[in-house]
Amino acid sequence: MHPSGSSSSLGPGGLDLTQAFFKPIQRAGLPSPAKRHTKISVIGAGNVGMAIAQTILTQDLADEIVLIDAKPDKLRGEMLDLQHAAAFLPRTKIHASVDYEFTVGSDLCIVTAGARQNPGESRLDLLQRNVALFKNIIPPLARFSPETILLIVSNPVDVLTYVSWKLSGFPSNRVIGSGTNLDSSRFRFLIADHLDVNAQDVQAYIVGEHGDSSVALWSSISVGGVPILSFLKNQQIAYEKVTLEKIHKEVIDSAYEVISLKGYTSWAIGYSVANLARSILRDQRKIHPVSVIANGFYGIEGGEVFLSLPAQLGRGGVLGVTNVHLTDEEAERFRDSANTILDVQSQLGI
Ligand SMILES: NC(=O)c1ccc[n+]([C@@H]2O[C@H](COP(=O)([O-])OP(=O)(O)OC[C@H]3O[C@@H](n4cnc5c(N)ncnc54)[C@H](O)[C@@H]3O)[C@@H](O)[C@H]2O)c1
Repeated sequence: MHPSGSSSSLGPGGLDLTQAFFKPIQRAGLPSPAKRHTKISVIGAGNVGMAIAQTILTQDLADEIVLIDAKPDKLRGEMLDLQHAAAFLPRTKIHASVDYEFTVGSDLCIVTAGARQNPGESRLDLLQRNVALFKNIIPPLARFSPETILLIVSNPVDVLTYVSWKLSGFPSNRVIGSGTNLDSSRFRFLIADHLDVNAQDVQAYIVGEHGDSSVALWSSISVGGVPILSFLKNQQIAYEKVTLEKIHKEVIDSAYEVISLKGYTSWAIGYSVANLARSILRDQRKIHPVSVIANGFYGIEGGEVFLSLPAQLGRGGVLGVTNVHLTDEEAERFRDSANTILDVQSQLGI
């Protein structure tokens, strides 16, 4: 299939109107080699992929977006729908194809493609199907964009980030899972709502597995620079551990709640991934809880495992992981997550 994209030769007899419309200036040379062109490919044009693509567009993060999916009609429909908003958006070339060749030279590849769970199907069976799917997705992405950064969103994100790392042969700093970036944003929203403050003033991290065994780092929560738990202690304000656990449970349950209400989640993951794309492509060196290779942290030894930790992101991908303090209990839960994931990975034959 040819890529669907924007057309510039609409003139009669194939005349290229862009040539006719503008008169060249004298003594002009080729564009400066310093010209930057940012290209993002989004694999999977479903609910999540399209929310990410549209947030990237509105935030002016790319010169070119390529959408890849296995369903050509849906793909073309989504592309046209976005292109028709061109008059209201920053200028971005939008292409769509089932052919990975069009991802060539991408700075960032965001993978959201995934099979859906069939009724009665176990999570492991679903995972096996997604691994088979990734075997057709990751190698061509790596081949056409050997310098790219892979950002994995499909679930189970920690295992699929590991699978992508293995299939791509990339160094670990260039394979990132969106991990608990979204969980942490939900956490910050709930704390902000509780305290009636702006969520952007709340620093709070959820680390570990994106999912049921995630770990909330209560001791590192601060609002406007004030560490919350030590503040409450100093002021002798009583708080109950169950209240904290309730907030964490609400974070874990919130994805299930949204899915049960509207069928899928899309807007928050769209903003969360666009935020990661900005930090990476604009070399922002911001700290995000994302899924990175976790060996060597908090006593994780042995098999290779990807889990979320607060990591600094920039143009080189993962630049490092912050030395955040985990209590003994938090570190133990973190290791438990690692063991659960390692157990699943050992059944994949990767
Ligand atoms: N990490 C997170 O925080 C987070 C949040 C929300 C959703 N997700 C995950 O994102 C994934 C996508 O969710 P969704 O709601 O968009 O699902 P969806 O079913 O709407 O979209 C999946 C898309 O993948 C496409 N696809 C399937 N096989 C393909 C292949 N081989 N090549 C290219 N495209 C292919 C499908 O055609 C479909 O358009 C799921 O795995 C979901 O669990 C992750």
